[in-house]
Amino acid sequence: MTMISTLYFFTLLSSTMAWGRVGLWSEGSPKNGTGGEDRCTCDAFLPSSVFPIRELVEVEIKAQEISHQLDLEMGKLEDYEIKITAYAEKIIKLTEKIEKIEKNPDDYNEADLEELKVEIKQVEALIKELQISINSSTTIFGSMRIEITSMEQVLIRLEKTYDKNVVLKTRREYIKVQLQLEECERRHQEIFNPNIGSCAHTGIIRVSKPYVTQLNAHLSASQIFGGWGKDSKPLPDRESMYWYSGHTSASIVDIRFYTNYKNLILRNPFQHNTLKNGWAGTGNNFIIRDNTLYYQINNPFSMAKVNFTDMTYTYRVISKASPNFSYSHSPSQNFDFAADETGLWVTYATEESGGRMVIARIHEASFGVEEEWQTSVYKPGVSNAFMVCGVLYAVRTIDMQHEEIFYKYDTKTKQESYISVPFERFQEKYSNLDYNPTDQKLYMYNGGYYVNYHLWFNHTTKATVSPPYALT
Ligand SMILES: *[C@@H]1O[C@H](CO)[C@@H](O)[C@H](O)[C@H]1NC(C)=O
Ligand SMILES: *[C@@H]1O[C@H](CO)[C@@H](O)[C@H](O)[C@H]1NC(C)=O
Ligand SMILES: *[C@@H]1O[C@H](CO)[C@@H](O)[C@H](O)[C@H]1NC(C)=O
Ligand SMILES: *[C@@H]1O[C@H](CO)[C@@H](O)[C@H](O)[C@H]1NC(C)=O
Ligand SMILES: *[C@@H]1O[C@H](CO)[C@@H](O)[C@H](O)[C@H]1NC(C)=O
Repeated sequence: MTMISTLYFFTLLSSTMAWGRVGLWSEGSPKNGTGGEDRCTCDAFLPSSVFPIRELVEVEIKAQEISHQLDLEMGKLEDYEIKITAYAEKIIKLTEKIEKIEKNPDDYNEADLEELKVEIKQVEALIKELQISINSSTTIFGSMRIEITSMEQVLIRLEKTYDKNVVLKTRREYIKVQLQLEECERRHQEIFNPNIGSCAHTGIIRVSKPYVTQLNAHLSASQIFGGWGKDSKPLPDRESMYWYSGHTSASIVDIRFYTNYKNLILRNPFQHNTLKNGWAGTGNNFIIRDNTLYYQINNPFSMAKVNFTDMTYTYRVISKASPNFSYSHSPSQNFDFAADETGLWVTYATEESGGRMVIARIHEASFGVEEEWQTSVYKPGVSNAFMVCGVLYAVRTIDMQHEEIFYKYDTKTKQESYISVPFERFQEKYSNLDYNPTDQKLYMYNGGYYVNYHLWFNHTTKATVSPPYALT
């Protein structure tokens, strides 16, 4: 009787994962370019009509090329993610089968074992294929790092030679691709990150720089109200879906869905729904969860939902919630929906508390409020709020460029505290900020731009809740 160790598969898979992590960060330490900075030049005395400077144009073209390549890499990453989930499921099934055979070897014949061996070979082949594609991404990131570093050297040299303002536009392009690469690498790492879904941390300690994906699908800077993001509890096969809704006023009248990141960037929706007559919403603090839009309506003043699976519309009046208190950036933001690792939430202010925020947990099946928590934070002083692991985080605006997570309330312990986790905004105003537990990112709709942030948590122990592929 051939004994096949179940451990074998775990080792096989975990070595793939471990490699993915190590390989990424060991790659491509940026090389310093040679010379350049001390080059003697008289170009500065040329009249401005000779601009654009050839080198600036070259850097700009390079930046655009890299940016395009990164968009494609991002699309590939989405595919890897789906494949990894599928492989992990296969491995779990195979492992169960092997355990059964090990328990009752006499129930199985040579043919069964042969079949099993073929299945194992198939999984091995799939893992090999995945490794090759991950390798090629890592190599691409490495060479991009080198190119970006040499772009930086050209920019520094030109900034010394010419007026900084001449270089500014190209410098911005450069910063954009740099952030884009950072995001791509981080996403690469995140796909193999077993901490997604875990609440074994004591909260947020850092927020990344804003990662600006793109101007909205209308390509219009006047669509300043809206939101974008991913479903926090996606339907099977919709894990890579993105959604977007934008408007010129604080309204929601329609929503677009994209199969994946690439289609979001290409503005190619697979579904576009206009809300039924009388069901247009307001406030822009809507989210998508379980293929359902949760949002605010004003007639009657209530929280509403549209289930895009069966196209049903429902609303619930919350009598305590007041229409008189909004967030500081935008009017009519009375109900703010949020989803985290633990479920669905809505926050609002009440008259009886003088405009202080209340956190309510929504029972998803009945769309009713299960429990409420009174906080001491005054809603009009808050620019937005979101939930992570049952903890409310409130954000305020510091200045033209900066926000700060300044307050948190833990619904498990009923404890509140003032904290300071500052982060940058891209544009001055924003209308929607939400956390997504499926990728631990913050999504912001910032003056018409899709912006997101990576979060760092103060981890206490190793992950306790893991997706199926985190088998080690
Ligand atoms: C690369 O450049 C940085 C900053 O200019 C400098 O500190 C570092 O020593 C350089 N490294 C090499 C290998 O030249
Ligand atoms: C991937 O790259 C690593 C490190 O360079 C290498 O050891 C490994 O053999 C490569 N795997 C494949 C499948 O190409
Ligand atoms: C949406 O409708 C589907 C089909 O009726 C149902 O299974 C699902 O639970 C609903 N989801 C929500 C959040 O209402
Ligand atoms: C708050 O809203 C209610 C309902 O719209 C309204 O009757 C009340 O006058 C408002 N309160 C204040 C202080 O504006
Ligand atoms: C992280 O958590 C530990 C233990 O709970 C605490 O002592 C430490 O101050 C926290 N670090 C930050 C940056 O909040």
